[in-house]
Amino acid sequence: MPPEKNKEQPRQRSLRAGVAFDRPEQAAAAADLARQLGLPLVAPVADDLDFILVRTATRLELRWTGDVAPAAPVWAEFVAGPAGYRRRHGGREMLIRAAGVKQGRAPSVLDATGGMGRDAFLLAGCGCTVRIFERHPVVAALLRDGLLRAAAHPETRDSAGRIHLVAADSREFLENMTNPGENIDVVYLDPMFPERTKSALVKKELQILRLLVGREEDTERLLAAALNAAGNRVVVKRPKSAPPLAGRKPSHCLSGTTTRFDVYLTMPAAS
Ligand SMILES: C[S@@+](CC[C@H](N)C(=O)[O-])C[C@H]1O[C@@H](n2cnc3c(N)ncnc32)[C@H](O)[C@@H]1O
Repeated sequence: MPPEKNKEQPRQRSLRAGVAFDRPEQAAAAADLARQLGLPLVAPVADDLDFILVRTATRLELRWTGDVAPAAPVWAEFVAGPAGYRRRHGGREMLIRAAGVKQGRAPSVLDATGGMGRDAFLLAGCGCTVRIFERHPVVAALLRDGLLRAAAHPETRDSAGRIHLVAADSREFLENMTNPGENIDVVYLDPMFPERTKSALVKKELQILRLLVGREEDTERLLAAALNAAGNRVVVKRPKSAPPLAGRKPSHCLSGTTTRFDVYLTMPAAS
């Protein structure tokens, strides 16, 4: 009997990727990025690749060209779209409460699993200074581009100014800190959760992020390092009914309709 087709195959081999530009004015920037990422410079339509990073006139886009993800491009966006809506109409989001943000108290946050920066931007919008770590170079490049655009827009400039992106592994940083517990009030973790079977339910951006970064095997060690480093608390985002990360019981939880924030207090909050 022939072996069953493995739906997760694209994640297990290395992905084929390239960098392209769609206007001649972007050629130099695209060539720079290709060099930094160690990827070839390609035409903006390339059927033999899994994805292309395209430097357009306005932004850096990831276009998935393989057949296992949505074809529409993704990019990091903080000015318009859902992030813009959240900024203009958002109330007090659960993440903000979980991080211990209060009137007159905006903790310093280390976002150890940066992704596309949505959560970090929300925290920065409430006055938190946020150091974002993102270890996947392609995701970090998309995030850097989104932050640069946010820094150039009057509505998002202040929040973007409170964010510092580090394209590196947060676990290594946290494990090697000389003064754990100092300088960082909150460590925030939002590790990738294993795929749901009904993949249509998974948003386009998350689906593509999963294909890019694959499984995250070191979350138990990341949580241990975070608990050692956070001066006040560690906040972990989980699907609502998932077990706590690494089986460690949190101090308390905040639950919404689909998501839960597990809060691990490492030191009582100052009154
Ligand atoms: C689910 S996404 C985070 C989404 C993010 N909270 C947002 O609002 O866009 C997880 C991300 O964490 C990154 N990541 C996982 N472990 C990491 C580590 N130890 N250091 C840096 N980045 C990490 C992955 O590459 C991935 O991009």
